[in-house]
Amino acid sequence: MSEQWAVGIDIGGTGIKVACVDWATGTLMDEQLRIPTPQPSTATNVAKAVGQALNELQERSRHTIPDGIRSLPIGLAFPGSIRRGKVTFLGNLDQSWVGEDVSTVFSSVTGAQCLFLNDADAAGLAEMRFGAGSQAQDKSVLMLTLGTGIGSALFTRGELYPYTELGHITVDGKNGERYASVSTKDREGLTYEEWAGRLQKYLDQIVLLTNPELIIVGGWISSQHASWLHLIDVPVPVVTAQLHNDAGIVGAALFAHQHA
Ligand code: BGC
Repeated sequence: MSEQWAVGIDIGGTGIKVACVDWATGTLMDEQLRIPTPQPSTATNVAKAVGQALNELQERSRHTIPDGIRSLPIGLAFPGSIRRGKVTFLGNLDQSWVGEDVSTVFSSVTGAQCLFLNDADAAGLAEMRFGAGSQAQDKSVLMLTLGTGIGSALFTRGELYPYTELGHITVDGKNGERYASVSTKDREGLTYEEWAGRLQKYLDQIVLLTNPELIIVGGWISSQHASWLHLIDVPVPVVTAQLHNDAGIVGAALFAHQHA
């Protein structure tokens, strides 16, 4: 059984979610553990918090992990990009990560092999395998995570083109994510109608640029789709994510299993 286990970690600007996952079924083995993101959120501080979370997860687990949690593949989803091992772009975390080889930093601080990927890519991998994209392996699919930022993951024939940052396209002369993210909706006190108007402009642009056959929208607001999805009109089916809060963790664990 334990050969089907991996750890998924989703690092965000305010919180970190951690769980052991059965990557073959996409289910969490225990309830996810949530800890606040340490401030300042430098790579070393976050790595220390992750190390403690791994210990706690092992202590709490209903399952006995034969060789300990650090023997499992560990995948970390984060809001940014990596090229040749180094962070090249970072969203909502301390900018000192840029230029760092975070796999090496995290592996040496936590004492476990840490494999990184983008958080929207992780959510997309999980949705394509277990969720809203599982019947769309033959299509071009765009996954968007709508939250503090806008994350993107592009798939064609089930293959991921990693580290796209399509939340940052320009819409109405502004950065798309600053224009249409959920945090902007909250900050500016926009109604669903007002926000959907902005999301519509964002989607018009992104559909033109990427030409997908299916769009999957994730993030908390996708669970509120009854309030806004009918206001959106694009020439492509738009469906909501199915793994909700677990998508990033499940995708990170799946990725770790595939790349360990
Ligand atoms: C980051 C992306 C990330 C998205 C969602 C954006 O600010 O640039 O890498 O996927 O937020 O967290």
